[in-house]
Amino acid sequence: MKIIISGSIAYDYLMSFPGRFQEHILPDQIDRLSVSFLVDTLSKRRGGIAPNIAYTLALLGERPLVMATAGHDFGEYRDWLEDHGVDTSAVVEIPDLFTASFFVNTDLDNNQIASFYTGAMAFAHTLSIAEHAGGSADLVVISPDDPRAMVKRAEECSALGIPYIYDPSQQIIRLSAEQLAAGIRDCLLLIVNEYEFGMVQENTGWTEDEVVTHAGGLIITLGEAGSRLLIGEAEHHIPTVPPDRIADPTGVGDAFRGGLLRGYSLGLPWEVAGRMGSVAAAYVLEQLGSQSHQYTRAEFVARYRQHFDDDGSLDALLS
Ligand SMILES: Nc1ncnc2c1ncn2[C@@H]1O[C@H](COP(=O)(O)OP(=O)(O)OP(=O)(O)O)[C@@H](O)[C@H]1O
Ligand SMILES: [Mg+2]
Repeated sequence: MKIIISGSIAYDYLMSFPGRFQEHILPDQIDRLSVSFLVDTLSKRRGGIAPNIAYTLALLGERPLVMATAGHDFGEYRDWLEDHGVDTSAVVEIPDLFTASFFVNTDLDNNQIASFYTGAMAFAHTLSIAEHAGGSADLVVISPDDPRAMVKRAEECSALGIPYIYDPSQQIIRLSAEQLAAGIRDCLLLIVNEYEFGMVQENTGWTEDEVVTHAGGLIITLGEAGSRLLIGEAEHHIPTVPPDRIADPTGVGDAFRGGLLRGYSLGLPWEVAGRMGSVAAAYVLEQLGSQSHQYTRAEFVARYRQHFDDDGSLDALLS
């Protein structure tokens, strides 16, 4: 199945400050704030929504095509993704800019000071499925990205008749009510977490039933409480899989989407696909970073079967 994952590509620069920000910010000098924190750890991680989802899909045997813009510093990330089974031929490098970058400094109280630089991501709207991704696909995933790109992707999918999964997430606040409603109206499935679903209802004025009617399908993820799948007339509640430890929650939503999509691409029942999302999410929680988890397909199936029954349908993943 040809799956295009459209969404951000970013590097995350994570720093830790061995002190407390509040001890260095003087409230009476706040109008002339100028602070510098000497940090003793810095790590750079591969991130961004599109590669995160694609990485899990590739672990499960798909070869997804990432469609995005990145900067002149993307080279080693491209090689790494290709080595892990992700097709990066629709990632366009913008020569004069850096890849979108998230800089966050965390202190001993877990307070954070962060900045997100959009960089090359601001050019994502210049790409098109027609020109950069071969003009056709069996499925497109529209994930958080430059808001203009998200609007354009949905319009293009509708015009080309390509089914798409709409995953607007943190960019809901950057889309107008009309843009959001248009994205939902034509999608195969809307996927959001509980908080984001509240924003969707507020922006569109639609009830849950109305969203399901417009979208055709709705998935609401509920953190450790699992997820709800409302597809057509059916509703499934999908429990979580307990992680052995929680090292880092970053990317848990993306891994869930990767697992779910692999179930969809194999033509498995939605309930099974949702549980595959739960298994994929557990793996990412156990590692630092959103693309540090690793497993074989056999290990994945064995872990699924420790928690759920699949009536043998996951044999499809092993062949
Ligand atoms: N603590 C947990 N234990 C087990 N599974 C979890 C846990 N938290 C999340 N999950 C799984 O991951 C899925 C997505 O989680 P969540 O609803 O928190 O997404 P999100 O808020 O979009 O996350 P993100 O921070 O990645 O954007 C859940 O439906 C569940 O299957
Ligand atoms: Mg999320």
